[in-house]
Amino acid sequence: MASSCSGRGVSESTAARARSVMPGGVNSGQRSIPGLEDLVITRARGSRFQDDTGKEYIDFHAAFGPPILGHNDPDVAAAVAHAARTVDLCGVGVTDAEVQLAEVLVDLVPSIEKALLTSTGSEATFHALRVARAATGRRLVVKFQGCYHGWHDSVSLNVISAPGRVGRHDPISAGILPEVLEATLVLPFNDEDAVRRTFEAHGRDIAAVIVEPVPHNVGCLLPTPSFLQTLREATQKHGSVLVFDEVITGFRHDLGGWQRISGVTPDLTTLGKAIANGYPIGAIGGRADLMDMFSSRPGGPAFFAGTYNGAPAVVAAAVATLTKLRNEPVHEHIFGLGGRIRTALRDLYAEIGVPAVVTGYGSIFVTYFMSGGVPRSYEDLLANRGDLFVGYRRRLVKRGVFELPLELKRSHVSYAHTDDDVDRLLEATREAVLETLQFDGVEEAGVARTMGGVTR
Ligand SMILES: Cc1ncc(COP(=O)(O)O)c(C=O)c1O
Repeated sequence: MASSCSGRGVSESTAARARSVMPGGVNSGQRSIPGLEDLVITRARGSRFQDDTGKEYIDFHAAFGPPILGHNDPDVAAAVAHAARTVDLCGVGVTDAEVQLAEVLVDLVPSIEKALLTSTGSEATFHALRVARAATGRRLVVKFQGCYHGWHDSVSLNVISAPGRVGRHDPISAGILPEVLEATLVLPFNDEDAVRRTFEAHGRDIAAVIVEPVPHNVGCLLPTPSFLQTLREATQKHGSVLVFDEVITGFRHDLGGWQRISGVTPDLTTLGKAIANGYPIGAIGGRADLMDMFSSRPGGPAFFAGTYNGAPAVVAAAVATLTKLRNEPVHEHIFGLGGRIRTALRDLYAEIGVPAVVTGYGSIFVTYFMSGGVPRSYEDLLANRGDLFVGYRRRLVKRGVFELPLELKRSHVSYAHTDDDVDRLLEATREAVLETLQFDGVEEAGVARTMGGVTR
């Protein structure tokens, strides 16, 4: 029997059945968490979810970020139900709601002149790179160590790399053609000199630079004030396409994304997650001349298709989510709670004398167990003690507070979270950290995991 950190172990039948018919018993590699092999979710509402033993968790994992309003937001659920009663996927033409959604994206996001819908963020980033190659006739793509842009081949490398694999290609999957990996150049985030040098050497072959403007797939690395501007200047000078992957930052940090906060406007933007509060949708938008290259426009050379693109129920979810984000003080609420959490955690670690860096932005928070200032690159994060990072979270889960017990993952606050939820988080964190320190993290030493290191 697998060990469990959710304090359960009786009703394993669903998890056992899952393992016999689904590889690993889950539908995403990022849901296969040591210690949580038997976790079966039965309900979710607001800031909480429940497992099949009836145990409730205050959810700060938030499915990696989509439910910005909280689980099963009633307004979003009502919009989805209405769509399900009135229209269905017909696979031809367009619906008024799709047009409304594209209009909202054009209105909100500075770089977006035209937009198209996908079903996932991975498809959005795939299409961004495809159209960049189509537009420039070039091969190479630049990405940054620590950024994740989905599962497709051009970007499936160098996310959470083991120390010995930083500075060279570190694929996160077997089965990628070596020539595809070789066409992706990986640079350290926030390293302006590396960007300039790479463009001097390869500028005429670089189709696109793709970047999470704030790399949240390793917690939170804030860009230095001039880094994104340097990317803008280098891509402009060399005729390459700049893609901001705002799948996490979009709508969560600002209705106009990080591009509105930073004042740096990319050529293309990819979106997902918080756009529809948990319904499966992604979007790509940007300069009209680039977007018009997609084959949704007859004659467009960059093939674009998807049976479920613009499916009425998910579009209704997106329109309802964005309407609520615009009309209610969602950002005020989530930024307030996020700020309170970061301040209180800093005080806590100072008080108990644990070297820790608490960082994040707005509704996102993360604690790295290391000394020094705010980390600026993935290389800085190699100092994080993975055993403590994973260890205190495993103990939080036992206490009914859910932060994902996996190396470098960030946590999120939603509109449904309350000050009481935050009180509980802080109290449970104190207990969980003190208990982990008693064991000096040793129990968790083998649990800290990388995302990469594929050698086949
Ligand atoms: C920044 C970023 N881009 C793209 C993706 C891929 O999105 P999806 O999982 O919807 O395919 C993710 C997913 O975590 C992401 O964090």
